[in-house]
Amino acid sequence: MKKYFAIVMIFMLTVTLNIAQSQKEKAVQKKVNDLISQMTLEEKIGQMTQVDYDAIKANIKDIGKYFIGSILCGGNSEPDDITPAGWANLYDKFQNVALKTRLRIPIIWGIDAVHGHNNVDGATIFPHNIGLGASRNPKLVEQVAAVTSAEMRGTGVQWDFAPCVAVSRNEKWGRSYESYSENPELVKILGAAFVKGMQGNDLSDKTSSLACVKHFLGDGGTTNGKDQGNTEVDEATLRKIHLPGYISAIKAGAKSIMPSYSSWNGVKMHGNKYLLTDVLKGELGFKGFLVSDWAAIDQLDKDYKTAIEKSINAGLDMAMIPNGQGQKNNYIEFITLLKELVNEGKVPVSRIDDAVRRILTVKFETGVFDNPLTEKSLTPLVGSKANREIARDAVRQSLVLLKNENNLLPLSKNLKRIHVTGKSADDIGNQCGGWTISWQGKSGNVISGGTTILQAIKNTVSNSTQVTTSKDGSGAEGADVCIVAVGELPYAEMIGDRQDLTLSKEDADAIQKAKSSGVPVVVLLLSGRAMIIEPELNKSNAFIACWLPGTEGQGVADVLFGDFKPVGKLPISWPKNMNQIPINIGDANYDPLFPYGFGLTY
Ligand code: GLC
Repeated sequence: MKKYFAIVMIFMLTVTLNIAQSQKEKAVQKKVNDLISQMTLEEKIGQMTQVDYDAIKANIKDIGKYFIGSILCGGNSEPDDITPAGWANLYDKFQNVALKTRLRIPIIWGIDAVHGHNNVDGATIFPHNIGLGASRNPKLVEQVAAVTSAEMRGTGVQWDFAPCVAVSRNEKWGRSYESYSENPELVKILGAAFVKGMQGNDLSDKTSSLACVKHFLGDGGTTNGKDQGNTEVDEATLRKIHLPGYISAIKAGAKSIMPSYSSWNGVKMHGNKYLLTDVLKGELGFKGFLVSDWAAIDQLDKDYKTAIEKSINAGLDMAMIPNGQGQKNNYIEFITLLKELVNEGKVPVSRIDDAVRRILTVKFETGVFDNPLTEKSLTPLVGSKANREIARDAVRQSLVLLKNENNLLPLSKNLKRIHVTGKSADDIGNQCGGWTISWQGKSGNVISGGTTILQAIKNTVSNSTQVTTSKDGSGAEGADVCIVAVGELPYAEMIGDRQDLTLSKEDADAIQKAKSSGVPVVVLLLSGRAMIIEPELNKSNAFIACWLPGTEGQGVADVLFGDFKPVGKLPISWPKNMNQIPINIGDANYDPLFPYGFGLTY
């Protein structure tokens, strides 16, 4: 009887919740209809226009003059004051201009918070996606997204161009680290988890932000891993490998999606009506809106007006425009040309109304109409100790132990002397990688707060342990162990495309010097992808893939000294040499150095 009663109660609750949800949706649609019925063509096109901060900061009044619907800060576009308060003040200043327009439609502000709120000084920086992929932990990814969202909201920003659900199939690709995995099954789980964490239970909650799933479709599958290249596969393969992340993200409630710069069999994604409209909005029932990538529509045709016509008619709803007055293809040109296209009947009013309806629906769902300004109570929480502890845990769970000869690890905290060396042992910038303060990131003290690996080791060992250092691998003689931190220097997007993934001479020399000292060697590889490491692997006694761990280097020390046993598993297949690339789980003659899923523990 009790079981029957429980089933009835659950059914009643589900029905009630569905009724409440549909009533909420009806209320939003009424507001959207009311608003659209009052809007001029200029006001509608303004909502379809997203302008980069740098492009409009000298003409902030244009937000009101052209009814601009959204602002973004691209990787290198940021306020002079990049503290949390500086960002919050900028956001409110721009929002107040939008709120003075006739219909008071607020802007939404987009940013690439792809491993924490990474444009803000003092923010918590998490491992990049490839490290989260190694954790295989959707609950952790949800937590990472929730903290990122709360730190964003502390600065006003409520729209994140994340998660990237690329399925990276070729390590030569400069964006491999933005992908959770080569395995679509893992990408779909973690991408959905990120959306849930970012958007929360209710998108209008004060700590929730709008996710933007990217880059649709097949960005990680281009031939030779060329960024913005051509994904040459049949439709069945495209769907099998690259679509699952979008299906799960839409199910998780994602309300914005960014098309890819790349092409599918020679057709640019930003102009692919079949995939953007028929598949995404039709077959998959995506109810949110599509925002272009950075000036991506310009690539569709040398004539800007033709490019706009192709992309909007293919199903793009909002154009991301980084060019300001005096520059080619600027936001005023976009607005003027799109208006011409509508008046000439080349872009149907119905297409404009569909785009605006989608954009306004999502804006109402975010709650930005009711709470347009920064939630100032959240500003002091940016980079908080509690948030950094979550990032530290993410680092712990992301590390993959590839070699541990004679159980060298975990190390004792009471060793007489530990020698720490390598270019990335004491470098927050190398720990964070690209998309950190600036688009490409940079070595050195790129961001305030955080702990380098060297500092973390010093924090962990006993007072009787001497920690000595160098950068080039020298000086290890006589130590109990030598820890060498090497890997990649920061990069982003096409700047990271590489045909040779062997370690740099500097890194190889450092490991050789450490080896020559005769003491046991632990190599920590900080990289955005698998690299060609066999020679260095043979010279080490222990080897950990640390990926790009972010600001909380303490998580690395937790694993080195056994406060946390390594749990990470490879989210990618680790090639023996460049000739093996691309190499992915399921390939015929699959013979990697380390297979997908490999990872030792203590
Ligand atoms: C970049 C990236 C995209 C990012 C956008 C805005 O070129 O391709 O991932 O969200 O521009 O910065």
